[in-house]
Amino acid sequence: MQKIPIIMDCDTGTDDAIALVAALYTPNFDLRAVTTVTGNVPLKYTSRNTLNLVRYLGFEIPVAVGAAQPIMGGRFRSATGTHGHTGMGTVTLPDTDAPFYEKNAVETIIEAARALAGELILVPTGPITNIAQAILAYPELQGLVKEIVFMGGAMIGGNVTPNAEFNAWVDPEALSIVLNSGIPCRMIGLDVTTRAVLDQSEADYFRSLESKAGILVADLLDFMLVRHQKGGEDLLMHDGLAVAAVAHPDIVRTQSFYVDCECHGTYTRGHTYVATNEVYVKKAERPALCQVALDLDLPKLKAYFREVIGNSVV
Ligand code: BDR
Ligand code: CA
Repeated sequence: MQKIPIIMDCDTGTDDAIALVAALYTPNFDLRAVTTVTGNVPLKYTSRNTLNLVRYLGFEIPVAVGAAQPIMGGRFRSATGTHGHTGMGTVTLPDTDAPFYEKNAVETIIEAARALAGELILVPTGPITNIAQAILAYPELQGLVKEIVFMGGAMIGGNVTPNAEFNAWVDPEALSIVLNSGIPCRMIGLDVTTRAVLDQSEADYFRSLESKAGILVADLLDFMLVRHQKGGEDLLMHDGLAVAAVAHPDIVRTQSFYVDCECHGTYTRGHTYVATNEVYVKKAERPALCQVALDLDLPKLKAYFREVIGNSVV
């Protein structure tokens, strides 16, 4: 089987954690590394959560620490209301003694991109700071990365402000750098991820697997169920949908548009501007490099999760 080489870049995060579990058990993935970024919770938690998860499930994949702040610096509101104080809801994983990778996130991305010469796919599921920094530091990345499939943005609406999705809102400058880099991008935004919803029956199924991965995912979903009952976010697989879309592109239907991220507006900072009107596409005078997800096949997404997490045996 021809495997797809990927790096996941996450701010783990409850739904990042489920996405990561799915990626670890996807047979057609060659997961080269996981890089971490601040976002849902501060970097010390997102990094620790990621390393603990990967080692707990018995994988030796490098976990590299990334940016502690958005690319322009400054502070922002993290998402502890959605993901809990440490980012993993009510789940506590054993602390591993294993070290982080000796290289940082930017160096790790560059190293893999050079080694794979055009084949690497980056899958960021948090603020896209690390990838923007890598592009600025190593412009040759443009010819070395096949695609960036990111969870973030929305054609319409937002979940932090009326116009901005969380990952885009945390680091809009980084997202704008990435979208204008010339690297082909696929945007898995709220337009589709708010329909990527699981339910109790999925949690029950994963628990019945009796594997570490199955129980971990079930525990995370149970946290989300309680969160939702209290009026919080539903069991949305924002980040899992981005991973699934790499494994099986037909899970999302996309269309190519010119996309940029608004960095300055008083009310629109973090809004992803998707030029759906051809006039504006021409005005922008740039090739439409971003495939924007417009629809998803929810039964296929659910089947994907069941199949790959079902691969976990211990
Ligand atoms: C995104 O924000 C985070 O809370 C989730 O992990 C996801 O990446 C959704 O807006
Ligand atoms: Ca995330």
